[in-house]
Amino acid sequence: AGNTLYFYEETGSTNIDAKRLAEEGAPHGTVAVADKQNAGRGRRGRVWQSPAGKDIYFTLLLRPDFAPDKASGLTLVMALSVAQAVEAFCGLTVGIKWPNDIVVNGKKICGILTEMNVEPGYIQYVVIGAGINVNLEQFPEEISKTATSLFLESRTQWPRAELLQNVLKRFEYNYEVFLQTKDLTGIRTEYMKHLVNVDKQVRVLDPEGEFEGIARGIDSSGELLVEKESGGIVKVYAGEVSVRGL
Ligand code: BTN
Repeated sequence: AGNTLYFYEETGSTNIDAKRLAEEGAPHGTVAVADKQNAGRGRRGRVWQSPAGKDIYFTLLLRPDFAPDKASGLTLVMALSVAQAVEAFCGLTVGIKWPNDIVVNGKKICGILTEMNVEPGYIQYVVIGAGINVNLEQFPEEISKTATSLFLESRTQWPRAELLQNVLKRFEYNYEVFLQTKDLTGIRTEYMKHLVNVDKQVRVLDPEGEFEGIARGIDSSGELLVEKESGGIVKVYAGEVSVRGL
C-alpha cells in the first residue's frame, strides 16, 4: 500500500520495466503495469501475447532481505494471491498448477515469470511478473485448448484496475505471512487448497531426465512432493522442471 505504480499504455515488457526501475533505485513494492506489451515474455523463452485493452500485465519489484535460495517461494506467494483474488472477485473456482500457473476449468488464465538479480549471498531485487487473461474474447486456435480468460469462463467483463488492486492487497498480506518464517509454512494450507496436482499422476521433466509419480503436495519451501511408483517421495524444485499432468 502507498507504493508507486507506473502505468504504461504500451511497453515492451513490464518485467523489463521493473528491472530498469530497480536499477534506477526504485523501492520495494514498486509496480509496473501496462495495457499492452509488444514483447511480453513467458517462461522458457516463450512469447506472452499481450494485446491492448483486455488483460492485465504487471510486474512487482521486491527487495527482500533474505537469502537467494528462499526467493523461489515468492512465485508461489504470487500464484496464491492471484488465485484468491480471482476466486473472491469473480466467484470462479480457481486452481493452481504447480508451481505457478493459475487455471480455471482446467485452462490457464494466468502465468507468472519471476526474475532475480542476485549478488553473492544476497538478493539485489526480485521482479515478479504476471499476465492475467481477463476480458479477452477469443484465443488463437492453437492455444484455445489450454488457455482461457475470466470473460470466457464467466461471461462477464471484469474491471481490471479493481482486480489488480485485489491481487496486490492479497499479495501484501501473504508476503507478510511468508516473512514470518521466510518460507511457505503459514500459507501452505491455503496454497494446497488450490493445488490441482494433488493426488494426480504427473510427469516430471528435469535436467536429469524424466520420471512419473503422484503429486502429494508441497513442502514449506515450495517444492513439489512426488511419490514414485517404487514408493519413495521425491522433492521437485521449481527451478528447471516442467510438470505435466497425464
Ligand atoms: C508463463 O509463461 O506462464 C509466464 C507468463 C508471464 C507473463 C507476464 S505479463 C507481465 C510480465 N511481463 C512479461 O513480459 N511477462 C510477465
